[in-house]
Amino acid sequence: MKALILSGGAGTRLRPITHTSAKQLVPVANKPVLFYGLESIAEAGVTEVGIVVGDTAEEIKAAVGDGSAWGIEVTYLPQEAPLGLAHAVLIARDFLAEDDFVMYLGDNFIVGGISGLVEAFRAERPAAQILLTQVSDPRSFGVAELNGAGDVVGLEEKPEHPKSDLALVGVYLFSPAVHEAVRAIEPSPRGELEITHAIQWLIEQGRDVRSTTIDGYWKDTGNVADMLEVNRSVLERVEADIAGKVDQASEIIGRVRIDAGAEVVASRIVGPAVVGAGAVISSSYVGPFTSIAEGCRIEDSEIEYSIVLENASVIGVSRVEASLIGRHVEITPSPRVPAAHRLVIGDYSKVQISS
Ligand code: TTP
Repeated sequence: MKALILSGGAGTRLRPITHTSAKQLVPVANKPVLFYGLESIAEAGVTEVGIVVGDTAEEIKAAVGDGSAWGIEVTYLPQEAPLGLAHAVLIARDFLAEDDFVMYLGDNFIVGGISGLVEAFRAERPAAQILLTQVSDPRSFGVAELNGAGDVVGLEEKPEHPKSDLALVGVYLFSPAVHEAVRAIEPSPRGELEITHAIQWLIEQGRDVRSTTIDGYWKDTGNVADMLEVNRSVLERVEADIAGKVDQASEIIGRVRIDAGAEVVASRIVGPAVVGAGAVISSSYVGPFTSIAEGCRIEDSEIEYSIVLENASVIGVSRVEASLIGRHVEITPSPRVPAAHRLVIGDYSKVQISS
């Protein structure tokens, strides 16, 4: 079994909240979303990993390296343009050879890993196994139609009138049968070779396509509320670990991870929360579900249910909530408007002053 991770695609430089142009490197609880995928793959015992890269290849390579940090061996597979998920399989043909593989979209996040799924696939070896999750608006996803027995009978890409609320999750398991499928299909109207079409082709050829429905799925869409929510769900599992410095005047409550090189001075941190290396929290309150990245400075402030990216500073701000603060941002209070009134008022005057 091999793994194929898709981390190509165009850069997303225009998005205001991404600290990097590669959406697979958007951090969740101080760690790029792609790293969770790599961990899941390594945990499932898969060590030969191909990573499809595009415009942002250098950033991905700088972050992942040769994969030894995860005990895996990474081969980079350049894709000249984001021509579709099935196109990525096409260009990975030599790397994948005749092995089964798990295809993992690098900007997707699956709570609970994939070990069980990989194990079941290895044991039963259908032609393909897809993952589904219930969504409230399936129109922007690949959508599956199941029959009464739970078999996949059809797939549609971003249907206007979805036949179910089961959206495809960005993890697929394939036998080498998929190679014939990706060669057989034509580009869609948006000019991409769609993996949904390749799977549909397998279904039409009478091949065994199975599905598993999961909870706990997230995909980077650039939506702040979603990012805060996935950050929350990851922090739900964080373990207390105080490697940084915490002074006597501070109080750490609940599951809080303070990385080596971070410093907490005269502050109160209520977990779950993480504080990255080199961050300094002083005279502040950091509340639940907050990720403070490396090198941040939080001073005389209160913050909770928020994500603060690398090297940002929040100084003298009384309450920050449900916020995403970008890299190197500086937040300070605006200068106060003088509160005093200087008056010269004659005898018996009546004056109303709003203050
Ligand atoms: P997306 O561009 O998000 O593809 P999608 O079809 O799931 O999404 P949408 O239609 O909503 O735009 O890409 C998913 C992941 O796969 C992402 O990490 C980028 C990567 N990718 C490639 O590596 N090569 C490709 O050709 C494409 C389309 C995506």
